[in-house]
Amino acid sequence: MANRGSFSGKIGFILAAAGSAVGLGNIWRFPYLAGQNGGAAFLVIYLICIFTLCFPVMIGEIAIGRKAQSDAYGSYQKLGGGKWGYLGLFGILAGVFILSFYNVVAGWAFGYFLEISFGNLLDTQDFGAFFGTYINNVGIISVFSIGFMVLTALVVSQGVQKGIEAANKIMMPALYAILIGLIIYSLTLPNAIEGVKFYLVPNLSEINTQTLFDGLRQAFFSLSLGMGTLMTYGSYVDKKQNIVASASIISIADTSVAFLAGLMVFPMVAAIGAYDVQGPSLVFVVLTEVFHNMGPTTGKIVGGSFFLLLCFAALTSTISLLEVPVAYLVDQKKLPRKPVVWGVATLIFVVGIPSLLSQGKVEFFSHLTFYKDRDFLTFISDMCDLSLTIGGCMLCIFIRGKWKIANMNEELSIGNPGYMNSYLRKYVSFSIMWTCPILLGILSLLIIFDKFVGIEYIFG
Ligand code: TRP
Repeated sequence: MANRGSFSGKIGFILAAAGSAVGLGNIWRFPYLAGQNGGAAFLVIYLICIFTLCFPVMIGEIAIGRKAQSDAYGSYQKLGGGKWGYLGLFGILAGVFILSFYNVVAGWAFGYFLEISFGNLLDTQDFGAFFGTYINNVGIISVFSIGFMVLTALVVSQGVQKGIEAANKIMMPALYAILIGLIIYSLTLPNAIEGVKFYLVPNLSEINTQTLFDGLRQAFFSLSLGMGTLMTYGSYVDKKQNIVASASIISIADTSVAFLAGLMVFPMVAAIGAYDVQGPSLVFVVLTEVFHNMGPTTGKIVGGSFFLLLCFAALTSTISLLEVPVAYLVDQKKLPRKPVVWGVATLIFVVGIPSLLSQGKVEFFSHLTFYKDRDFLTFISDMCDLSLTIGGCMLCIFIRGKWKIANMNEELSIGNPGYMNSYLRKYVSFSIMWTCPILLGILSLLIIFDKFVGIEYIFG
């Protein structure tokens, strides 16, 4: 088993897992979801989801991986036998689909980084129209998406320590530095305080079932939970390490970046008072206009740094997503890492083509009739989110019914001798036995119903 690869130690694992967690989800998606869902009210729901539903699942997922020392399929198969391996395969497949659309959005970010830093993006007048045209320029977006996938593959092909760990050790500190610099700058903009208020003063009237659904999906997605990423990374962790402590740091790191991203974005939004711009275009349209207004030089520097930040965040996540199917093929099929990496990366790019064409280029993918006329990228991203909460629910059922809570606790005590007698053990065990599977099961069903029928038929 020596040739599977492993992280060099505690820092390597934590940085890589935090790198996986911190991504487009935090910087691109979290702020616009918060904006749509009543600002701070969303933050509160999100934090409750993290604490009650995500944190226990994260601990369980890492524990399974470290115990089994195998990929997502191999881990379930080893500890569960029978048909449990299929649960791992389900997660691996979910990862393939997540990466397929994630890489398209990463391509947009990569493109904007280059256009703003070196090109003439800031010369435009109508930023919404520019964005719409830009992402439908299939040639350009393909080039950038392929470029992003190549960067991802280059890192993953170098293996766990020399590739994944090394890349995260450079990009994560850089990411934090850029983020903090941008927040400081953003808070000095005129009207900044208005933006902070919008973000931090809860508007309770905007909380509804949608807020709860969005909070839960975002929490799972943001922590990279429920499909085997953390299981795979956990399998590269040695027995000396304290899983519970690492999971706490990873959760806090991820949540703080999401929180800080809001603190960076909303003062900028306030600078032009564009609170009404919602959804995915928030970052690409509103912020670009703000960068434009800063004048050519400042705009290039601040805007360029922002999109570089987005690219770093995305890259540490795409790396973790690509590693999941790669680990499966390397562990189970005994295939050599490098060709597997390039093969899987190509396949995933191809799977992402419908997403790439779904922003207006091809009518069929842009308005799915069976999905309330929404586009394919939204559809696939919604389905992937769902597979995460379902995967999390099944993971708890697996631990409770098959692997057994006692075995999980034994694994968690390795590297953490006080765990058996701690309150945390009681909390995590109870959550995995009751709270998580029940709530995740019910909420997943409600989300499915909502997506295809509409929850308003139940709750009015
Ligand atoms: N967590 C990342 C983000 O917030 C995306 C991501 C990486 C992910 N690996 C994952 C999401 C595994 C779900 C599952 O952008």
